[in-house]
Amino acid sequence: MQRFTPRTKLLGTITVFLSLLILIYYLIISTSSTALNHSESDDLNLNFDYFKKFDVEDNELIEYLEGKGLDEGELPPLSSLPLQNHEKTLNPGEVPSYVFEYTPLVYLYTEETYLPYDISKYISHFVLKDEFNNTVTEDFTIDKMAQFTGKNSSKLLLTTLEDTNDPEWLTGESNIPNLSTGKIKDAPAVLVVVDKGNGWVDAYWFYFYSFNLGPFVMGVGPYGNHFGDWEHSLTRFYKGVPVYVWMSAHGGGNAYHYEAMEKFDRGYKRPLIFSSRGTHANYALIGRHSHDLPWGMLSDFTDKGSLWDPAENYLGYTWDGHNLSIIDSESKGQVNYTEQKIDPNWLLFKGKWGNAQLPTWDPRQQWSIFEWKYITGPTGPLTKNLSRLRLCQTKKWFNFFGDPCPPKKFLKGVNKKTGKAEEGAGVCGDLFAWVRPVQLRYLIQLFIWKGWVCTLMDWVLG
Ligand SMILES: *[C@@H]1O[C@H](CO)[C@@H](O)[C@H](O)[C@H]1NC(C)=O
Ligand SMILES: *[C@@H]1O[C@H](CO)[C@@H](O)[C@H](O)[C@H]1NC(C)=O
Ligand SMILES: *[C@@H]1O[C@H](CO)[C@@H](O)[C@H](O)[C@H]1NC(C)=O
Ligand SMILES: *[C@@H]1O[C@H](CO)[C@@H](O)[C@H](O)[C@H]1NC(C)=O
Ligand SMILES: *[C@@H]1O[C@H](CO)[C@@H](O)[C@H](O)[C@H]1NC(C)=O
Ligand SMILES: *[C@@H]1O[C@H](CO)[C@@H](O)[C@H](O)[C@H]1NC(C)=O
Repeated sequence: MQRFTPRTKLLGTITVFLSLLILIYYLIISTSSTALNHSESDDLNLNFDYFKKFDVEDNELIEYLEGKGLDEGELPPLSSLPLQNHEKTLNPGEVPSYVFEYTPLVYLYTEETYLPYDISKYISHFVLKDEFNNTVTEDFTIDKMAQFTGKNSSKLLLTTLEDTNDPEWLTGESNIPNLSTGKIKDAPAVLVVVDKGNGWVDAYWFYFYSFNLGPFVMGVGPYGNHFGDWEHSLTRFYKGVPVYVWMSAHGGGNAYHYEAMEKFDRGYKRPLIFSSRGTHANYALIGRHSHDLPWGMLSDFTDKGSLWDPAENYLGYTWDGHNLSIIDSESKGQVNYTEQKIDPNWLLFKGKWGNAQLPTWDPRQQWSIFEWKYITGPTGPLTKNLSRLRLCQTKKWFNFFGDPCPPKKFLKGVNKKTGKAEEGAGVCGDLFAWVRPVQLRYLIQLFIWKGWVCTLMDWVLG
């Protein structure tokens, strides 16, 4: 009779272990609430009627949201674009004042060497190339960009042949926010407001930096550098009340209930976002943010450097799923803004905002198991799923069930003694942060090996 060898035993154990893991994952996720999965509209009850009684920005409403523990399931659903007329709350070009009242403020990293930059000036250093390295147009400008908006524009790349030894247009070295106003006078942010129907309004703030200096892995790097860096945040309002804030980080991001976020002290209204050193990934906390690899091998760092107020200088638009409109003069009157003469259709450019990944033979290119040193630039604002109903831009493969980005009710991972952010638990570890009792959570996190399982699977599947 054949006895089990140690190897088959080991394989058996691993199989059982992995099956258990998947089972636990399934059980937990399938029983978790899908917070933004709104109830049917004919099911509107007391809570919705309650909201009807109040005007926008009503303090009582905010107290209600904070104190009573809002059950988002009882708010009306967001609608898919394009909206029916009866679902709309905004006209084209109309940006309500509450968008500015709750605009996030962005803390740049103290020693940030790649500061925000003006997109028009940035583009002037590039030519437009196609995927075969043929020049499509020289003397590229943001107005010309508005002419390349078709489907095949996704094959195009902004390409620079300039010596890239950190010229001013790459570092934006003079674009330090004004210490008293937070204004960066030479680098406008980009605001795109999207009516999501039934009283919901999304305000997307885009933050542009000329260069992304990738992170270091265990002291080696940087890896994943690229020209052009588009980061963004989303503030989601219901009837003028900020309910959620989401912010981008490395193709993913984090969602919070508005009231969970730290606020700037001018009126305690404007949430604070922290931009990481080099990568400009956004977080709601200062400190070290481990991502993609466990044990802090790959981390972002945020702190309270200079404070950028994007509402002091921005290009404003509304988008309805099809048409773009420049912010109208009534909305403009509410704050200072940059005079906009450029064609808003630049936002429809689907190409890459930076050079293609350097070829392997290029002496500047370097390989690591994590990533190439120089990678292709990103795509622009309107490619970031602004019609999304959930808070996150993309759904990751491991979100089989439930909400891929449930908004957090408090800032997680804060060390109570130091007040600083602690390491997260890798790619998928954070998924289980809400599991109680905590012992069960630790057990699951031990199983997924601080996110290693997801990291490995992300490499294989993702
Ligand atoms: C693209 O073309 C330019 C000349 O226009 C050349 O210098 C460069 O090496 C080419 N890049 C690649 C990746 O072939
Ligand atoms: C896009 O496609 C159209 C027709 O298919 C073509 O005429 C045009 O030149 C293309 N544009 C670019 C930038 O490749
Ligand atoms: C910052 O803004 C204030 C108020 O507008 C202005 O007086 C001051 O000169 C600005 N500082 C700099 C360095 O530009
Ligand atoms: C977009 O604008 C065009 C022309 O102004 C108009 O015909 C069309 O109905 C608009 N589309 C939407 C979805 O509003
Ligand atoms: C707008 O900017 C001008 C000059 O930059 C300044 O004088 C004015 O006070 C600002 N207005 C507001 C509402 O901040
Ligand atoms: C856009 O967001 C929705 C969630 O609202 C998601 O289901 C969808 O997959 C996203 N689309 C893309 C292209 O990532």
